[in-house]
Formats: sequence, structure tokens, C-alpha cells
Amino acid sequence: MIDIHVHVLPGVDDGPRTLEEGVAMCRLAAADGVETLVVTPHQRHELWANEEPAALTAACSAVQERLGGAPRLLLGAEIRVDGDLLDLLAGDGGRSVVPLAGSHYLLLEFPPFPTRLPPSELAQELAIAGWRPIVAHPERIPWLAEDPAALEALVAAGALLQVTGSSVTGGMGRGAAECCEWLLDRQLVHFIGSDGHNLHARPPLLSPAFRAVAAGWGEGTAQRLLCENPARVVADAAIPGGG
Ligand SMILES: [Fe+2]
Repeated sequence: MIDIHVHVLPGVDDGPRTLEEGVAMCRLAAADGVETLVVTPHQRHELWANEEPAALTAACSAVQERLGGAPRLLLGAEIRVDGDLLDLLAGDGGRSVVPLAGSHYLLLEFPPFPTRLPPSELAQELAIAGWRPIVAHPERIPWLAEDPAALEALVAAGALLQVTGSSVTGGMGRGAAECCEWLLDRQLVHFIGSDGHNLHARPPLLSPAFRAVAAGWGEGTAQRLLCENPARVVADAAIPGGG
């Protein structure tokens, strides 16, 4: 499996505090069957701006060095959406944000309150500019999760949806689980990521979600959401039926 949403870089956001914990998280993921982690520190968040991609690259290299060759780490970011994002991307061609694994895929985190620009319009603008927007855990953003029309419009506009593994398995509450079920029933989910933040409360595990999706929606769907589509992100290739 490939995890496209996980926080393992120490000291840059609300992920691990130490290099040791970050390394232990990666080893836990590897033992769970994850061979590649696209690590996604928060970026442009009000608490964790992480404006210097070079600093994140260095932090990623430090963890990889301690791990040796496996699991493989690739750098990305979870980019907070605000009213300036489109102008920023247009202004510097995206040099100040970190796409997933050097691809054209951007992992976007919508704020907990509705944005002035409707999400589907943002997705459309990003797609026109050549980006492939992925919306991080819409099931955990109440104003999106409670608006089925907005979720459908997002996908229709070219966005891809990543839900969190522990949401699917019920660890994030009934509302998040029901939203995931609704999305999975309509084939509106493109990826499952762990959104792991630490070793114990939010561990970087994917196999429980793989089993839950395989049981409810078939082994092929689990393969697609946890292995095949994430591999296409790493290869910067299009997702069939999406984007
Ligand atoms: Fe996250």
C-alpha cells in the first residue's frame, strides 16, 4: 500500500515531536504493509505555515536516512485552502507549495468554516491551471460532509477525494463513518490515507481500512483506493474515472 496523507516529520506540525517517534511511525507503517509514504506536513496553516519547502525536504531526508531504504518516503504537503491560494499558485508557479511526490497532485485541506469561493470552483480553477486537486478528508469537514451536493459538485469539477482510514472504520465518530459510506456507495472516493500523526492516538495504519473496504465494497475497490490510485499519484498519472 501507499499512504498519500501522513504526518511523520518531527517538529514541523502537530505530528511527531522527535526524530525517534517519526522513524518509529514509519516502521509501524511498513510493518502494516505500507511500502511508500508520501509525507504531508501542514502547509499554509495558521499554526504551521511551513513556507520553506527546502526545510521540509531536509526534514524528510533526515527521517529517510535513519530508516535506510525502506519504507520509501516521498515529500508532499497538506495545503490549507484560503482566499490567496489561487493567486499564490499563479504568482510563483507553485514553488512555495509542495505537491505530492513532485507530481501535479495537490492535497488540499479546507478550513473548518465555508470558503468564500465554492470548493467546486476552486477545483475547476486549479484544474484549468494544470493541477490535480485532492480534497483531504471531506468527511471530517462538517460544512462539506453535510452537503452532499457540494461533494458531488467537487468531483464533477475534477477534484479527487481522500478519506481517512480511521473514519471508514468508525474511529472518527458516526458522522464521519456515515459520510464515508455514502461516498463509497457512490464511487466518489479516490484514495484512503491514514492521516497518521503519532504512534498511539492516530497511528499511520492502513490495513484496517483495507479490510473494511474489501468487506463492504470488494477487494478490487480496496486495491484501487489504497494501492493503485496512490501509485498513479506517485507516477503523476491520471486517475481513471476521476480528475
Ligand atoms: Fe493531515
